Amino acid sequence: MSPKELDTPCVLIDLDRVETNIKRLQGYLDAHRIANRPHIKTHKLPQIARMQVDAGAVGITCQKLGEAEVMADTGFDDILITYNILGESKLHRLTQLAKRIRLCVSADSDVTIHGLSQACASAGTEVGVMIEFESGKQRCGVQTPEEAVTLARLITSQPGLRFEGLLTYPTTEHTVPFVDKTRALLKTEGIEIPCVSGGGTPRMWDAHRWKGVTEHRAGTYVYGDRKTVSTGAMMFDEVAMHVLTTVVSRPTADRGILDAGSKVFSSDTLDLDGFGYILEYPEARIYGQSEEHGHVDFSRCSVKPKVGEKVTVIPNHACVVTNLVNEVVCLKNGKVYEVWPVAARGLVR
Ligand SMILES: Cc1ncc(COP(=O)(O)O)c(C=O)c1O
Repeated sequence: MSPKELDTPCVLIDLDRVETNIKRLQGYLDAHRIANRPHIKTHKLPQIARMQVDAGAVGITCQKLGEAEVMADTGFDDILITYNILGESKLHRLTQLAKRIRLCVSADSDVTIHGLSQACASAGTEVGVMIEFESGKQRCGVQTPEEAVTLARLITSQPGLRFEGLLTYPTTEHTVPFVDKTRALLKTEGIEIPCVSGGGTPRMWDAHRWKGVTEHRAGTYVYGDRKTVSTGAMMFDEVAMHVLTTVVSRPTADRGILDAGSKVFSSDTLDLDGFGYILEYPEARIYGQSEEHGHVDFSRCSVKPKVGEKVTVIPNHACVVTNLVNEVVCLKNGKVYEVWPVAARGLVR
């Protein structure tokens, strides 16, 4: 079946491109002896995580415990959760997971570390801990090498924990100086850093420049999106996720309305103009959205679509689209191959 025969809106995943994207990054990281630990938040699909591990990834990264549980249930046994896990309920789930697989989590405070240690020690299990430090995103992460040293000391002294190293997101110019200083300080205490984990798609091809960063976590690279293309990390014809939509109304000479709005594309602009890129009408601009309507300005297009015409959109941000749909339609050789439920969709706890 040709994808244009599908009912809309629907999310299309081109598995040939996914495979190429996986191989290309894996090949690059292998060539530079950097471990690849892809982030599954972009696809939330065990099938694609399997392709990534089969291609050579050392394990996978999840953002949330719920994602990791789904991946463990489907056979993944080496998972990093890049999140501070807090609270009785999550710590209980974490210990259950740690009994089944090789599990590692990030932490940036003594509160998180004490919680992990108490939960693991009383459950008779162990979890790896990486200290998250900030490289400029102003999200989580310790701010100074001295703080990292204090936390490393704590991790190595508490039961139920393995010190697994340092972690940051995204890798930037701030990363290497931070790691170098922390490494020097830890050396005086006899503490080695087993792994330094960085991440991000926009600068993935710079990964070899970050001396001492031993692992890379990219997520978006597997699909790509309009933002990734705008950063230069990928090209439009490498993007593997598209949203097929129908023009359901042409109320004025210039305006067209799509049957997908913020409930499919999300409201993320990521500093781009508009909410997506229409392949068939590159001059068109998705200037606004209602929940179920995409508002398009076709004034700059010499030929404009008719009501009922299907158009293909590259979304601004692939990861949020994944989390908004129950299933994706996979293509091979340009034909519909299989429909996959998005197994870890909505698992934000
Ligand atoms: C902690 C962490 N690691 C890795 C990634 C992957 O980043 P990207 O999707 O840019 O590859 C993300 C993305 O949000 C992240 O939050």
